This record gives sequence, C-alpha cells and structure tokens, in this order.
Amino acid sequence: MSSTRRVAIVTGSSRGIGRAIALRLAKDGYNVVINYLSNASKAQEVVEAIQSSSESKAIALKGDVGSLAEGEKLIQETLKVFGRIDTVVFNAAWIVYQAIHDVTEESYEEAFRTNVKAPLFFTKQLLPYLQSGSRLIYLSSSLTSVSGVGPNNFLYCATKGAVEQMVRTLAKDLGGKGITVNCINPGPTDTDGFRTGKTEEQIKFIAGLSPVGRLGQPDDIAGAVSFIASESSAWVNGQILRVNGGMAL
Ligand SMILES: NC(=O)c1ccc[n+]([C@@H]2O[C@H](COP(=O)([O-])OP(=O)(O)OC[C@H]3O[C@@H](n4cnc5c(N)ncnc54)[C@H](OP(=O)(O)O)[C@@H]3O)[C@@H](O)[C@H]2O)c1
Repeated sequence: MSSTRRVAIVTGSSRGIGRAIALRLAKDGYNVVINYLSNASKAQEVVEAIQSSSESKAIALKGDVGSLAEGEKLIQETLKVFGRIDTVVFNAAWIVYQAIHDVTEESYEEAFRTNVKAPLFFTKQLLPYLQSGSRLIYLSSSLTSVSGVGPNNFLYCATKGAVEQMVRTLAKDLGGKGITVNCINPGPTDTDGFRTGKTEEQIKFIAGLSPVGRLGQPDDIAGAVSFIASESSAWVNGQILRVNGGMAL
C-alpha cells in the first residue's frame, strides 16, 4: 500500500520528546511509525492517541536502532504498511550522566551504540528509499553549547558532538538530492530521561537556569521539529537549532 500522506518514522517515540514529536507530526498530517525499545504498552497508547484524534494512521514497531538488522526491519515494515518514508526523526538516545572518571568501556560502547552508531547506520540504510523533499532531523542537546554544559556530561556530550558533525557533513552530501538534514538541540526538558538520577532540588535549579524560568516541555521541542518537517523549511539545511528558552546561547 502506498500512502498519499507523508510518512514519518520517529525513533524512541513511546515516551518523552519522541512521543510529543509523533503526536505533533500526526496532527500535521503525517502517517507515523512509533518506534520503541521495550515499552510496548506506552507505544500502543501513542498509536491510539493519534488514531483517536486525527485522520493520520500510526503503527508501533519494536526495534533497537543500535542494531543494523533491527533498523533494516523497521524500514521494511514501514514500507510494507505505508509504502514510503519521507521524514525520519532520530530521537532515541541514552541520556547518560558520567564524568570521565566514571566512564567504563561498557558505558562508552552503549552510549556510542545508541547515540551515534544508530543514527549513522540507520541513515545509510534509509537513503535508497528517500525522495527529494525528504527531511532528516537529528536530536542533539543544548549541552553541546559551552554556556549550557554542567558537570557529568563528558560521555553524553561526546556522542552528541558526533551527531552534530554528522548533520553538518550530511547536509552537504544530501542537499543535491533535495533531502534536508537538520538538528534540534533541546534544553532541559521534562521527561523520564531528564529526571533519572536527579533530585527535585537539582531539577529546580536547572529549571531556573533559563531566562524563561522553567523546564522545557516535550511539546516545546515538537513544535520546532514540526517546522523542520514541513514544506516551509525547504531552505533550512545543515542547521543546529537550539530550543531551550535561552538557557544556552
Ligand atoms: N530530556 C531532555 O532534557 C533532553 C535534552 C537535550 C536533548 N535530549 C534528547 O532528546 C531525545 C529524547 O530524549 P527524552 O528525554 O525524551 O528521552 P527518554 O525519556 O529517555 O525516552 C527515550 C525513548 O527512546 C527509546 N529508546 C531508547 N533506546 C532505544 C533504542 N536503542 N532503540 C529504540 N528506541 C530506544 C525509549 O523506548 P522505551 O520506552 O521502549 O524504553 C524511549 O521511547 C534524545 O535524543 C535526547 O538525547 C533530551
């Protein structure tokens, strides 16, 4: 079956920012693939929320994006159900807080597998199926800005720095095919991934770092992704867009 609607895959969209992006792209008219790692019931809830509130269709597909085999399966299942892929949001990541003295070979490998290897090879696997007008949207973090970084971000920031360099170079490589490549850098956004390992006091302190005086909400990030995924953004390419209430400039 080939969908007349544009089709988006959002990796890691059972929860948090990915969930908000999936809901927003569906509202914008996309049919959406909800990818997840283990949380099948949460992913199914997102599917139901989309189908009960819009004309768009959604499916949940389990798959570890750090595995090339599972990435290929995700692509083939999407094509089988919807017949096309137009926009991919590389959202899934491991948010890890470790200073250099805490990094182990295992944590290094897990962080780079999920945050760098996954978007790199998934992009390579997708390319044969993308047409002119496609949008590739990566998620980095405002922590890669000098003024935003706090302690214990050594390993996480190393992975997100790699993502940003992929975006810069891919934008040049794919521009000629009419495919845009951009990056969204959220500031601290209220999700499970953000809250893990932090006390309420720490969270309050971080919220106060933004001139707007609050944490981001997943919908704040989804709004920016919606613009990049739209036809209006055709001339926006290779950009790193910080969405953080002015916390990091
Ligand atoms: N929240 C923030 O403050 C913040 C700030 C800057 C940047 N970001 C970036 O924004 C993105 C989303 O962050 P978040 O806070 O929403 O994350 P989160 O709450 O930790 O949610 C992670 C999502 O990714 C999925 N996932 C994890 N590993 C996966 C894998 N190997 N394959 C497929 N799916 C996988 C999870 O699926 P399950 O539900 O199945 O586990 C879940 O849906 C990340 O790229 C993060 O680095 C977040």
